[in-house]
Amino acid sequence: MRRQKVLITRKIFDEVVAYVREHFEVEDNQSDAPFSPDELVRRLQGKAGAIILLMDRIDEALLSQCPDLKIVSNVAVGYNNIDVEACSRHKVMVTNTPGVLDDTTADLTWALLLATARRLVEADQYLRSLKWDGWKLMEFLGSDVHHKTLGICGLGRIGQRVARRAKGFEMQILYTDAVRAPSLVEKELGARFVDKKTLLTESDFVTLHVPLNPRTTHYISTTELALMRPTAILINASRGPVVDEKALVQALKEGKIAGAGLDVYEREPEVEPELLSMKNVTLAPHIASASRETRLRMAMMAAENLIAGLTGKRPPNLVNGEVLSS
Ligand code: DGY
Repeated sequence: MRRQKVLITRKIFDEVVAYVREHFEVEDNQSDAPFSPDELVRRLQGKAGAIILLMDRIDEALLSQCPDLKIVSNVAVGYNNIDVEACSRHKVMVTNTPGVLDDTTADLTWALLLATARRLVEADQYLRSLKWDGWKLMEFLGSDVHHKTLGICGLGRIGQRVARRAKGFEMQILYTDAVRAPSLVEKELGARFVDKKTLLTESDFVTLHVPLNPRTTHYISTTELALMRPTAILINASRGPVVDEKALVQALKEGKIAGAGLDVYEREPEVEPELLSMKNVTLAPHIASASRETRLRMAMMAAENLIAGLTGKRPPNLVNGEVLSS
């Protein structure tokens, strides 16, 4: 029997490629350069499935030219790179990798928060430039994190992990969300449910953990930034378009807030140029889940989803179940 053909669009772990090869004829991309939209269509033609990364766009135009495609397996929990409705119309299964990256993402959120509050990157650059000439009382004064108020927007799996870590810093925890968390969760985390305005007004640190959708696009813009304290720090390790990047630059320039720690950007890999020279901003290149262990687990999970979907089983992390029920 002829083996089904699949595409792995970018460089992933060799052991994952080998695992997928046990089941299918695999075309992979060891160069790791993203395919252009036309190239992606060409490579996907005749393929039954694909393991894809966040920069690969799956939309109506692509799907209508790739009639053999049955499943796209995203190596990420977020899937805003995929038009899920279009996939469902074309009976293409969509899968993601939830759960495995929660702790790793929460760790990086905290790294950004601590680094920004304590000016760690700025201090590191200062030391490396050989400018340090000895201890000074007034040098690199940052702001305390312990015993302050943390505002979490979105108390889902990642938001909860962030809150758990905040308990160690003896912080007050506020959260806001479309749906209130069960009281058991609130109690365990010591988190108080408030509306968005209260959270923005009362928090020393605001951290974003909402999924990107039309309701959360520019969830933080000029109005929201104006509500924040001039000493507050904004952290974003969710999705770039959740923050209006131009409004953020303006707020930082006008001292409406004190700083920001960002892992994600509105138009990745572009970054609003003025952010690059701001010393009170910590910037990371979308690495929240980038520990070796977690990225391997994510890739393996994507492989398992792909294999299940193409061997007649329900993929464990199917996003559009309607494809199987129709
Ligand atoms: C995701 O999984 O959605 C991240 O942004 C990449 O780890």
